[in-house]
Amino acid sequence: MIVIYPGSFDPVTYGHIDIIERCAKKFDKVIVSVLNNSSKKYMFTIEERMDLLKKVLAKYDNVEVDSFNGLLVDYAKKKNCSLIVRGLRAVSDFEYEMQMALVNKKLADDIETIYLVSQGRYSYLSSSIVKEVAMYGGNISCFVPKEVEKALKEKIKGERSKWKY
Ligand code: PNS
Repeated sequence: MIVIYPGSFDPVTYGHIDIIERCAKKFDKVIVSVLNNSSKKYMFTIEERMDLLKKVLAKYDNVEVDSFNGLLVDYAKKKNCSLIVRGLRAVSDFEYEMQMALVNKKLADDIETIYLVSQGRYSYLSSSIVKEVAMYGGNISCFVPKEVEKALKEKIKGERSKWKY
């Protein structure tokens, strides 16, 4: 069975990787799909987000990195996949996830969303929090792989140099 694990991945964290690894063990193939939404503001471009994912997921034979725009259910149909996986970290995720799952179900009744509960050690982790800690020079090595840490530091350095005049 094939599953789609969609998200912004701006950037990928150990929390995402944990969900992907667990899916890779249970399903034949995992398609990690990065949302390419030009009207949303991301720190990393779609190419950078995909490139980081490809680097950190290279060791998984049954994991593919792809991108999508438009509706997730339309993308899933195009991929011949009827199962979407999302991670649930805490109760605070529930409302948003429930809304998304119900909308997707309304749009495409044959597509199911299933949830994997994040491991306790990742339940506080998000791409936004990692970006904030990195921005203030904090240690992020326990939140993201070294390739992502390097990319974040370079991005922040690049942004800072733009502010100098
Ligand atoms: O990592 P994120 O930002 O929580 O992922 C959200 C994502 C990409 C899964 C969601 O925004 C999405 O599926 N967007 C595509 C547009 C869509 O299908 N919208 C209807 C369902 S809310």
